Parts: sequence; structure tokens; C-alpha cells
Amino acid sequence: MMKKIQIALDGPAGAGKSTIAKQLAARLDYVYIDTGAMYRAVTLAALEQSLDLNNGETLGELMKSLDIRLTPGENGQRVFIGDREVTDAIRSIEITNNVSFVARQKEVRAALVTAQRKLAERGGIVMDGRDIGTVVLPDAELKVFLTATVEERAARRHRENIARGMDSDITILQEEIALRDKRDSEREVSPLRQADDALYLDTTEMTIDEVVVRLMELAEGVLK
Ligand code: CDP
Ligand code: CDP
Repeated sequence: MMKKIQIALDGPAGAGKSTIAKQLAARLDYVYIDTGAMYRAVTLAALEQSLDLNNGETLGELMKSLDIRLTPGENGQRVFIGDREVTDAIRSIEITNNVSFVARQKEVRAALVTAQRKLAERGGIVMDGRDIGTVVLPDAELKVFLTATVEERAARRHRENIARGMDSDITILQEEIALRDKRDSEREVSPLRQADDALYLDTTEMTIDEVVVRLMELAEGVLK
């Protein structure tokens, strides 16, 4: 049987991680794990319970009782807290603008990193996030750091919003993305950073298909 590797995709918001990870996983018949969704689910629960997002101890307590489940769905990963589906709820602007405060707390990260390693332990996984290659899966056989200019990433999100019939302001999007990148890169615990052994891929001028083809070549190189 062909061996089943771990693939780690990291990078800033809007780099194309989830789009590419989903397609790569489908082609390889691997499981796709969106770790950002886990941080988003914690943020949703914390906001619903009116907890202080800057208090690591309080959030650490929350983690003890929080049952986050990920299951593969037709359009990618579905997310549950206990039996309640939160797949769409975790994508709200309120969650997006608050998630990096929650993700900064070491108590939250410790609990989620343990869960993520467990999900990946048998291989056959494409995992995307910010610290997958550096912290969660340091031994992943393939690590890629995907990025694009902030202008291009905001333009991608803008097109996505318009296609969904949502209001969208590209200048605001760019500011929000830049702010989240800054918080994610400057935090003390597991900041967004390229792993030393990760391949750096600037996708500013690349289509989704081109990126997928490139990563499939790399994966096949490792699997040979
Ligand atoms: O898809 P998008 O780029 O908007 O973000 P996401 O992957 O859903 O991640 C949301 C937030 O969770 C990020 O801005 C980080 O603050 C945090 N995150 C993290 O700290 N570590 C990860 N492995 C994944 C996400
Ligand atoms: O997960 P992450 O935040 O890194 O990005 P994403 O949600 O996968 O991608 C953001 C948007 O950019 C999506 O609408 C993708 O279809 C689009 N995209 C693109 O236009 N060109 C690429 N090379 C990659 C993604």
C-alpha cells in the first residue's frame, strides 16, 4: 500500500490555503483538516458565554468542556460543538475579527494542538493553519508556506463576497486582513511563521489550478 503522508499548509489570511488543501486532499483521497475552524469554534463559544477573550485562564477552563468535532462534508469540512453544527456560524465577521485574540492564548493553543496531532497521527492528512509546519506537525513530509500580496488576498475575498451576494468593501477587507496578519505574526505563542524546511510559494500571480498542480507534483515527489 502507498504510504500516507502528512501535508502541512501555512500562510496568512486569503492565501488560498483552504481552497488548495481541500482539492489536494480530494485528489490524494486524504482527509482535510482546517485548524482555523477550531480556533473559530472556540471564539464562537467564548463570545456566546460572554467570556473575556483576553483571559487565558478563563478560556483554558472553557477548553476542558468544549467538544469540537470535525467531519468531512460534501463541500469540505463540517464543524460541530457537541451535536450542534456551527459550520456557517463560525464564518461571521464578528468571529473573524475576534479570533486572533483567542488564538493568542497558550491554554487554547495547547488544547487544540493536542487534538490536531491526534487527528493527524495516522497520516493521509492535509492540514492548514498558521503553525502546522512549525509546531503541530514538525515532522510532516511536505510543508508549504502559501502567500500572496495583501492587495491580492483582499481582492480574492472581495470577489468571494460579491459572488455570494454580500456587501463588500475592498479597502476595509485589506485593513482587516493586514491587522489579523499582524496579530497572528506578532503573538508570543506559535506565531505565523514559515518553517525552515517549508517550501515558500507566492501565489499572487497563480490560479488555483496552477497551485494545485504544483503541490501535487511536490506530493508525488515525496510519495515516490
Ligand atoms: O481562513 P482564514 O485565513 O480567514 O483564517 P482561518 O484559517 O479560519 O484562521 C482564523 C484565525 O485562527 C487566524 O487568523 C489565527 O488567528 C487563528 N489560527 C491560528 O492561530 N493557528 C492555526 N493553526 C489556525 C488558525
Ligand atoms: O484559507 P485561506 O484564507 O488561506 O484562503 P481561501 O479561503 O482558500 O481563499 C480565499 C479566496 O481566494 C477564495 O475565494 C479562493 O477561491 C481564492 N483564490 C484565488 O483566487 N486564487 C488562488 N490561487 C487561491 C485562492
